[in-house]
Amino acid sequence: MGKGHQGKVAVITGAASGLGEAFAMRLAEDGTQIVAVDLKPADKAVAHAKSLGREAIAIRCDITDPQQVGAMAQQVNDKFGRCDILVNNAGVYPVKFFHEMTFEDWRRVMAVNLDSIFLITKAFIAGMQDRRWGRIVNLASNTFGLTVEALVHYVASKGGVIGFTRALATEMGSYGITVNAIGPSLTRTPGTMSFNKLPGEMTSQQFYELIANMQAIKRIEEPSDLVGAVSFLTSDDAAFITGQTLYVDGGLVRGA
Ligand SMILES: NC(=O)c1ccc[n+]([C@@H]2O[C@H](COP(=O)([O-])OP(=O)(O)OC[C@H]3O[C@@H](n4cnc5c(N)ncnc54)[C@H](O)[C@@H]3O)[C@@H](O)[C@H]2O)c1
Repeated sequence: MGKGHQGKVAVITGAASGLGEAFAMRLAEDGTQIVAVDLKPADKAVAHAKSLGREAIAIRCDITDPQQVGAMAQQVNDKFGRCDILVNNAGVYPVKFFHEMTFEDWRRVMAVNLDSIFLITKAFIAGMQDRRWGRIVNLASNTFGLTVEALVHYVASKGGVIGFTRALATEMGSYGITVNAIGPSLTRTPGTMSFNKLPGEMTSQQFYELIANMQAIKRIEEPSDLVGAVSFLTSDDAAFITGQTLYVDGGLVRGA
């Protein structure tokens, strides 16, 4: 059980795959009720939460669509009456060099990785302010501090996530709401296993090994390496930590 998680309601986006699925399962283990949001059915996370005796629902929602986000938030409020913990996890990382990138490519990445965080946070934050308790964790990336190719839109979106996190934390500090970000390294998930067109015709496995060898801890990051950070940042123990980006990346990126 996590400290202060019992009975809380956690909304996790991108919970049908990879990191989001792992976060939902860990938060259920910590004692929260689970809302697993995704374009796809998040059956595994919901089944795991229910097997532990938690209330859990999966909601199909395109988080870039304001109307669908509004309907999702309504469903959460109808079922649970609130959202205490929000993990803005869903994101996309299509590999493309800048000279090939269209404005549509750019807009799509911004919509999924950044606009959605605005929309979903807006949908739930008034309730957190009223109850004077909330935990928001946003998924950034250590690519913001690295030299990476063919991800200009992605790195820009994650820079936006870090800026959003810092700025919103300032406004929410007096409401008992913390806002933090997590910056993983390259992590083995369904998304990264099916990378398209990596620079130099690398396979995903070669890319994992390349990045792992740049880390202080030279092994490939797994979703299980990240769940502890989400558990901690959403706990009562983390009540005085806000506006931070915690790089859980085997020591690859250090500093502010
Ligand atoms: N895996 C990594 O190496 C890595 C590294 C750094 C940061 N991250 C970040 O972690 C997060 C999760 O990455 P992952 O590797 O688990 O990805 P993934 O591709 O395995 O899973 C992402 C999930 O998000 C969902 N999703 C995508 N667009 C959506 C939309 N419009 N509406 C609702 N759901 C949508 C997908 O259906 C999918 O289930 C992303 O924000 C990513 O940028 C991942």
